Amino acid sequence: MKRIGIMTTGGDCSGLNTVIQRVMRGAALRGWTVIGINDGTDGLLTVPQEIITLTPDVLSIENSHLSGSVLHNGRPGAMNFAVAAHNDTLAEFKNHLRRSLQNLKLDALILVGGNGSLSLAWCNRDIYADLQLICIPKTIDLDVPQTDITVGFDTAVQQLTSFCDQLLLTARSHHRWFVVQAMGRDCGELALHAGIAAGAEAILIPEIKFDLDCLIAHIRNAKTDYGIIMVSEGVSLRGHSGQPADIISRRLNAEGIANRTAFPEHIQRSGDTTARDRITATQMAECALNAIDNNETYVMTAIQNGYCKTISLADFFDSGKYIQDSKIDGLQTSNSYVSPDSPLLSLACNMDIYIGEMQ
Ligand code: F6P
Repeated sequence: MKRIGIMTTGGDCSGLNTVIQRVMRGAALRGWTVIGINDGTDGLLTVPQEIITLTPDVLSIENSHLSGSVLHNGRPGAMNFAVAAHNDTLAEFKNHLRRSLQNLKLDALILVGGNGSLSLAWCNRDIYADLQLICIPKTIDLDVPQTDITVGFDTAVQQLTSFCDQLLLTARSHHRWFVVQAMGRDCGELALHAGIAAGAEAILIPEIKFDLDCLIAHIRNAKTDYGIIMVSEGVSLRGHSGQPADIISRRLNAEGIANRTAFPEHIQRSGDTTARDRITATQMAECALNAIDNNETYVMTAIQNGYCKTISLADFFDSGKYIQDSKIDGLQTSNSYVSPDSPLLSLACNMDIYIGEMQ
């Protein structure tokens, strides 16, 4: 009989509770105990640790589609990798985490996190040397290398699409455009998917250069006088600072194109978990438990061509593009981006959606 832990780290997204509930179910079938660690690494640092034994009373099946995480994702201002690195106490912080995990006497830990958490786990893997570490990728940004899908992405696309659907009704009444700024950090997947789903007239993403004059010409030539211009938060406009949606909106106004901006913000991380995300969460939970059965460690679950399998964290880390972590000096995060071969890019071009200056 094994004793396993689970924690949710980094930003939340919809689907975390489904992962937790499915892990509980699969573990119960195996006769294992599941310990939930509250607030990610924060919960490991408090004395005694902030843990709960996960049972159906804590998270029932009918509540497992609600967004957020019953285990929380970390308190503002708490000690974490970024603070420890800043205070030059990283070694002490890591020792503390390792000792805390030893005290919990876990056979395995399932860490549900984004590319930042997974990169941190791999680069500081000695923390997890005394147990099996299995990661499950979750993020609305879909920027984790090696997996076609992450938990939370599909719900975020749905949330952002529904947000645009609502805006279109008022846009039509006023004959004006909405410049909608999507989340996604420096990856354009969320903006691209939701932009196509919502029937946007233009989709601007960090991966593709665009020209404001061409965008304006495109909007002027559009068959309608209202609609959505989807802008990913990661796009940069040379010579300008500030939110990209604001910059674009001002320029459209100056050209006499009536518009408003809209910022769906954290609503993209919320919303009832879609059926697709629940299936992904179930596949990944089952794969993670199988990995524990098979004595694997330092792996992440990944969906490739519909099948869920494990990939080593080394492969995850080495196959992405390294970027400097936004909060921790010297830490590289492994990222993935919209591929130039993405079928959604050619689809957008064929549908005459402005997506920038494609080669
Ligand atoms: O990585 C997920 C994400 O929602 C990004 O899309 C966004 O830029 C960021 O987190 C927002 O972070 P915070 O919750 O700290 O504002």
